Amino acid sequence: MADSGLYLDYHGFMLPKVAHSEESLKYLQSFQVKDDDVFAVTYPKSGTTWMQEILPPLLNGGDLTAVETIPNWDRAPWLEETRAPVVLDKLPSPRAIVSHMHYHLMPSSFFKSKAKIIYVTRNPKDVIVSSFHFHKMVSFLEDPGTFEEFTDKFLSGKLVFGKWTDHVKSWRNPELGDRIMFITYEEMLQDLHDALRRMLGFLGRELSAEALDRVVDHCTFKNMKSNKMSNYSMVPQNYMDNKKSAFLRKGVAGDWKNHFSPELDAKFTAVIQEEMKGTNIRFPWDE
Ligand code: A3P
Repeated sequence: MADSGLYLDYHGFMLPKVAHSEESLKYLQSFQVKDDDVFAVTYPKSGTTWMQEILPPLLNGGDLTAVETIPNWDRAPWLEETRAPVVLDKLPSPRAIVSHMHYHLMPSSFFKSKAKIIYVTRNPKDVIVSSFHFHKMVSFLEDPGTFEEFTDKFLSGKLVFGKWTDHVKSWRNPELGDRIMFITYEEMLQDLHDALRRMLGFLGRELSAEALDRVVDHCTFKNMKSNKMSNYSMVPQNYMDNKKSAFLRKGVAGDWKNHFSPELDAKFTAVIQEEMKGTNIRFPWDE
């Protein structure tokens, strides 16, 4: 594991040192996955925090206590981050866990387990916009430069957790069978009720109509923005400057149209299409 500046190099992937350490990555490798663990896996800026809000109540009969009293990073910890060794072993089952890892970097116990995975994909053009603003507001990631420069880094995988296309493809592994459910950020935006109903069905859980309504209402962008357990307002300003850009920034689909010139759009689309060629993965935004 190489170590330079703001990032660690882990199997060729840049990980921010602020949240990853040699210890946390060792913990990840030897982590004992339980069959009733539920993972929300995302490429960064695709809806991870949203899933940290959704999963705990879905797994606990609609109880909102955890999302109202425990910060998102402790109630549904990142498997690879420094909070994992501190909180994960004590977390009551069924555990909600999030991860940005590529499939092949999951711990060996994961592959032998029956743990379920919800993989959230977001239009990469909106991922990059969200990431660009995130890089501007935090002190623990490199300055993004211009949007064009940042796009080049994104396309060549020179950002944390590598290439979007590699991440997305890695999780389309037939070995996972029906352990994995795929959903898009855009589907969640369009109809959160339906998205949560599908997640409940996949997880083999039920909620009363009233409980589901409550969870949906709690997980709207507006309500999450005012939940200090989820809006990152507890993070010191020298790490995350919410005055530059809020962590829960816009929460919409299509903001890329305000950032991409027609030329940049054409270049971006061509690279992504080339890298997705030969797969049968189709997204609503490709139509
Ligand atoms: P924007 O920057 O486009 O607003 P992650 O948690 O993976 O880092 O992703 C962050 C993105 O998800 C941010 O996107 C954030 O606003 C958005 N997000 C989080 N909760 C959301 C919600 N309830 N509804 C819509 N978007 C949400």
